[in-house]
Amino acid sequence: LPRKELYEAWETARRVRRRFRGGRVVDLAAGHGLLAALMLVLDDTSSEAIAVDTQIPKSAARVARAMEDAWPRLRGRIRFIESKLEEQILDRSDVVVSVHACGPLTDRILEAAANARSRVAVLPCCHHLEHGGSGLKGWLAGSLAIDVERAVRLRGQNYDVFTQLIPSDITPKNRLLLGAPRGSSVQAAFHGKCSGME
Ligand SMILES: C[S@@+](CC[C@H](N)C(=O)[O-])C[C@H]1O[C@@H](n2cnc3c(N)ncnc32)[C@H](O)[C@@H]1O
Repeated sequence: LPRKELYEAWETARRVRRRFRGGRVVDLAAGHGLLAALMLVLDDTSSEAIAVDTQIPKSAARVARAMEDAWPRLRGRIRFIESKLEEQILDRSDVVVSVHACGPLTDRILEAAANARSRVAVLPCCHHLEHGGSGLKGWLAGSLAIDVERAVRLRGQNYDVFTQLIPSDITPKNRLLLGAPRGSSVQAAFHGKCSGME
C-alpha cells in the first residue's frame, strides 16, 4: 500500500467529518477502501460503509484486517463491492466520498450524488484538459478551471458548496470539493471536538 494513499484518505476524512456526520458511507472508486474505514473511525454514528471499485486491489482484504485489528469496532461494518460505481443505488442519507476518481469519473460521482440528493465530497485528479473548464481557461489553469466548473455546477443543483485543500506535500491533486443539498437537515456542520479532527 503506498503510504500516500493513507495520508490522502486521512486528510480527506477529517475534513469531511467536520461537516458531514452520520449516514451510510459510500466510498466510490475506493481502491483499498481506506477512506471508507477512516470515515467510520472518525464518526461511529455511521453504522456502515461500502467501498466500491471495478477492481478491488488484492491487498485490500489485508489492509482491511489491519484496520480492524487497530479499530475492532470496524469489524463487519465495511463491505467491498466489486462493480461499476454507476450501478450503485444511492440514498439521500448517504455520504458519498471519493479520493482521486480519475478525470470524468469524478463528474459521474458528483452527478450520481446530486441525483440522489446525498452529501458528497470528492478530491479530483487526472483532469482531462481537453474537456471542461472551457469558459474559464483564459483566467485559470486548466485543472483549476475544471474544478471551479464542478463547484459552480453543484451549486446550480441547489447544493451548498465548500472548497478546501489538503496539504500539497501529500498530493498536488489536493482540491477537496464538498456539497450538501441546500437546507438538508443532515448537513449540519459539526462544531464539537473530536480527537484527530482539529
Ligand atoms: C486512482 S484510483 C483511486 C483509488 C483510491 N480511491 C485511492 O485514493 O487510492 C481510481 C480507482 O477507480 C477505479 N475505477 C475506475 N472506473 C471505475 C468505475 N466505473 N466504477 C468504480 N471504480 C472505478 C479503479 O479501479 C481505481 O481503483
